[in-house]
Amino acid sequence: MTKAELYRREFLEKCIGRGVLASAVLPQTRLLALWEETTAKSLKPTPTDVLGPFFKKGAPDHRDMRIKGEPGFPLKITGKVYNTRAEPVPGARVHLWHADFKGIYDANGYRYRSQLAVEPPGDYTVDTIMPGHYPDRPAQHVHYLISAPGHRTLIAQIYFATDPFFEGNPDKNYTKRNMVSNREAVRPVTLIDESTAPRAAVTFDIVLEKA
Ligand SMILES: [Fe+2]
Repeated sequence: MTKAELYRREFLEKCIGRGVLASAVLPQTRLLALWEETTAKSLKPTPTDVLGPFFKKGAPDHRDMRIKGEPGFPLKITGKVYNTRAEPVPGARVHLWHADFKGIYDANGYRYRSQLAVEPPGDYTVDTIMPGHYPDRPAQHVHYLISAPGHRTLIAQIYFATDPFFEGNPDKNYTKRNMVSNREAVRPVTLIDESTAPRAAVTFDIVLEKA
């Protein structure tokens, strides 16, 4: 048990001792275990970000957004959609859109746009390319809009820790030019399939609040 967990345990024991935390039916030890188990499972909702001007309704469910013959470093994004109790959210839909390798959004069609139906147990995955930079928002990013029955629609964005914008130190530089609202949105990048078809891989788990 870590120091923080020990303090927390002591605090809860004091609460029980003073009658602040009580149960009519459970013994003290069970009450303590149940409280810790329940609070450990609660997840913080994913912070929101701006929608931006390039969202477009009606995108197809494209699991592979790559376009044959078009440059761009391959990127695989995977993640899960949870509620704040760390349970998968049934019926969630994940819209993703981003600029092409030159930093241009497709305003006429659905290039680099997808609307994924999340599959049990809450997973989504998409193959695409690393977005390009564009002058107005000079960090590579992917936009998200996530909806699910009974939950608040979430607008988010992810960024990439490997982006030169962060100068190799996203912990220090994520606040630069007010580009990024929260540190967790700058995702670590892993190189996968190095010997066959190298791709960047990023995970982004999403936590939705109840409506
Ligand atoms: Fe954008």
